[in-house]
Amino acid sequence: MSSYRVSPVPVITGEVTVPGDKSISHRALMFGAIATGTTHVSGFLEGEDCLATLRAVSSLGVSVERPGPGLVTVQGVGLDGFTAPQSPLDMGNAGTAMRLFMGLLSTQAFDSTLVGDESLMRRPMERVAKPLREMGARIATVDGRPPVRISGGARLHGIDYALPVASAQVKSAILLAGLRAEGETTVREPAVTRDHTERMLQTFGCELVVRSGTVTVRPPAGLAAARVAVPGDFSSAAFFIVAACIGAREPFVIRGVGVNPTRTGLLEMLALMGADLRLLNHRSCGAEPVADIEVRPARLRGIVVPERLVPLAIDEFPAFFVAAACAEGETVVTGAEELRVKESDRIAVMAAGLSALGVTNEVLADGLRIQGGPVGAGKVHSRGDHRIAMAFAVASLRAAGPIEIQDTANVATSFPGFVQLARSVGLAIDECA
Ligand code: S3P
Repeated sequence: MSSYRVSPVPVITGEVTVPGDKSISHRALMFGAIATGTTHVSGFLEGEDCLATLRAVSSLGVSVERPGPGLVTVQGVGLDGFTAPQSPLDMGNAGTAMRLFMGLLSTQAFDSTLVGDESLMRRPMERVAKPLREMGARIATVDGRPPVRISGGARLHGIDYALPVASAQVKSAILLAGLRAEGETTVREPAVTRDHTERMLQTFGCELVVRSGTVTVRPPAGLAAARVAVPGDFSSAAFFIVAACIGAREPFVIRGVGVNPTRTGLLEMLALMGADLRLLNHRSCGAEPVADIEVRPARLRGIVVPERLVPLAIDEFPAFFVAAACAEGETVVTGAEELRVKESDRIAVMAAGLSALGVTNEVLADGLRIQGGPVGAGKVHSRGDHRIAMAFAVASLRAAGPIEIQDTANVATSFPGFVQLARSVGLAIDECA
């Protein structure tokens, strides 16, 4: 099993550019596939998760080419142009791929089955299956989990659905099914979640009505192929933002990062802790805002995280918990039970890792209480969760000795090149096979 051995270093220097956004890369492939014409994607994340989507799209009869690094061209087949796959579609570790494909495939004429790796096979799928069934889809899960079996030929009708959990994946799956349902489909969110689907559908020429907390789609005649430039992934930048907060002595810059406000809750949380963060060179990457993020040295103090920020930072908690461990005083996160159903149970796995490093913490049903203070050395298990592996690599900036991080191969799902990039700014990571 692959692992990292990270030796303590006190400081990082330089600047970084992170790979493309995972959420946006998945959507660019899927929307390009169901559009009419050729979609050109640049800045595509060549991580395992998005490559699973790429293979799935190809298995559905869509021609996809990769003319160069980060470049993908998709020959769209239209809203009902997919052909039946020869075998189950393997989504690997990618929850986004599985859930969005559920929406797309539930309106097709053929049967399909979706499977994934060990982690994905444990994750809840009824949250998507249930509203899709209300629309008329025929979907079966096994005890609420994959394999997901979708029977083709169902005729879907629009619904007005209030999401019981704040989830962009569920919202997106319903909207994608709504593209081929009869009548209009409305999704109501209990809290704001990432809105990449809404922005990108509009780029592909689909009209949506977006009001505060609700999105309505009417089935369009078709989607028009587009050019999609994918910004740097804020969730990947998060590791360097936290690393700079705890380990930079001079201003540290992460360039070309997507700063869609539905993703940047971490910046607000760190600012509440006293971090000195600036967004520079604001620009747009298609429908998405982009900036360079500058982090200046500052001391961090513990905070009680406002629950409204949780969905806006949902993927950043592994990194944030490391920031909290390095802050003065106590940090409390509540209202974050969704963390228990990510690639791992991120509350339990982060708590165990922090404890292994001597950081006092208390597991709450819906969050974690962390006492900032010295970080020790030791062995932590990522449980195959990419973001947990990277978060503990960042903790080496304050560790008393080496940290061994087990089960790190899945870093390649979201952040190919993480080790090299981290080394380039001074982190001392050795990879062991
Ligand atoms: C994502 C939505 C979030 C997030 C995931 C990507 C997306 O999941 O955690 O990494 O691309 O829509 P939930 O919708 O389950 O919160």
